[in-house]
Amino acid sequence: MPIIRLDGAAVEYRQDGGGPDLLLLHSLLTEMSVFDLVVPPLARRHRVTRLNLPGFGASSPVALNSGAEHADHVARVMDALSLPSTVDVFGNGFGAFVALELAIGHGARIGRLLAADTAPGFPEAGKAPFRAMAERVRAGGVGAILDTAIGRMFPASFQAAHPEIVATRKAALARVDAECFARACLALAMLDLGPRLSGIRNPTLVLCGALDQTTPPALAREVASAISGAVYRDIEGCGHCPMLEQPEALVSMIETFVSESGKRMAEAFRLRVNGRDCEVSADPNTPLLYILRNDLKLKGTRFGCGDGQCGACKVLFDGHPVQSCDTPLWSVPGHEITTIEGIGTESQLHPVQQAFIDEQAIQCGYCVDGIIMAAVALLEREKDPSDEQIVAVLDRNLCRCGTHMRILRAIRSAARAMRQSSKA
Ligand code: FES
Ligand code: FES
Repeated sequence: MPIIRLDGAAVEYRQDGGGPDLLLLHSLLTEMSVFDLVVPPLARRHRVTRLNLPGFGASSPVALNSGAEHADHVARVMDALSLPSTVDVFGNGFGAFVALELAIGHGARIGRLLAADTAPGFPEAGKAPFRAMAERVRAGGVGAILDTAIGRMFPASFQAAHPEIVATRKAALARVDAECFARACLALAMLDLGPRLSGIRNPTLVLCGALDQTTPPALAREVASAISGAVYRDIEGCGHCPMLEQPEALVSMIETFVSESGKRMAEAFRLRVNGRDCEVSADPNTPLLYILRNDLKLKGTRFGCGDGQCGACKVLFDGHPVQSCDTPLWSVPGHEITTIEGIGTESQLHPVQQAFIDEQAIQCGYCVDGIIMAAVALLEREKDPSDEQIVAVLDRNLCRCGTHMRILRAIRSAARAMRQSSKA
C-alpha cells in the first residue's frame, strides 16, 4: 500500500476509482481493509481514499489523546494528499467520532459528513469498558481483548454464521499498536461531543446498525437530532460493522444520501466579498468560484482545473489563500472573502500587482491572479520571505508558461517595496 510521511511518521493509505472524493475512516476495532467489500461499488462513482489511523496497519504510532487530535491528524493527511474541501467523509465507530470532530473543527475542509455507529458521548456504564480495554491492552497487548472486541463488533448470530470474517478481523486487530489502541479507548471514554454538535454545518447522514450494542441506535439518534438538518437511518439486521455485515445496504444508503443532498434546493446566503455585503441564492454545495464569477461578476478569479489542483482560482478566506473551486458556498457566510478585485484599484495597484508588471512576470496571465493572491497573503504575514518560503506557498499554483523565475523576482521586489513603504 502507498505510504506518505507526516513529520517522519508513516501514514498508510489507498485510493481507488475516480470522481468526487470520498474519504473512509475505520473504527477502533478494525483497520482499512474492513472497507474491501464496499470500496469496489463506491469507486464506480467516487475517488475513494482510505487510510490507517496511527498505529493501525503500516501507519506509524503517533501519541494522540483525543478525537479532536485524531481529526487534526486526518486533516493534515487530507492536505498532504491534496484532497479537496468538497471531500465527503464517512466514518464508522471511532472513525465516526473522528469524522464528527473533523466537521466540528475543520468543517470548511470537508463536504458531507456520514457517521455510522456513533454517539454524542457515553454514559458512565458505557465508559467503563473502554477504560478496562485500555488497561488490559497496556498490560497484555491487543491479543488480550480480541474476543471482547469481536463481541462489541458483531451480534452473536453473525459471529456464528461467519467464522472466517471473525478470524480475519482478529488477525488484523492483533497487529494494532497497543499504546495507540489504549489511547483511543481512553479518548472514547472522555468523549463529549454533545454541546459542540450543533456547530456542524455540513450536510449530515447518521446511520446505526439496528442491532448495535456498542453505540446503540438511541445514542446515534441523539447525534442526528443535535445536528441541524441531519438525516438518520437504521441499518436493519446489522451490529456495529455495516461494511462487513450489510455492505450492500451501506453502499446504497451512502449513494442515496450523496445524490439526494446534491440536489438540494437553492438557498439564500449572505456573503461579505471585498468589504461589501451581498446576497446570493444557490445550491449550498455550489463552488464559491461559480458564485464569484457568475453571480457577482468578479471575473478576475480564474477557472483552471476546477479540481483544486492548479491554484488559478485562489482567493483569500479570512486572509488565508483557498481554492475557490473547492470551497462550497455553505462554508462562506460569516467569513471575509477577498478577490483580486479587492486588493488594489486601477489607479493604485497593490504592490504585488505593480511588481508583476514591473518584472514582466506575466505571459498568458491565466495563472497570475491566483499567484498574486497567494503572494499577498504571504507578504501580509511575512515581511521578508525567503525563496524557500515563496516556493512553498506557491507549491499548488501551476504556471504553464514557465515564468517562475520572474514570479519569484516580482514577489521579492514587492516585499522590498512594502517594507520600504511601511518605514516611510
Ligand atoms: S481552478 Fe481551482 S485549483 Fe484549479
Ligand atoms: S503566465 Fe501563463 S500560465 Fe502562468
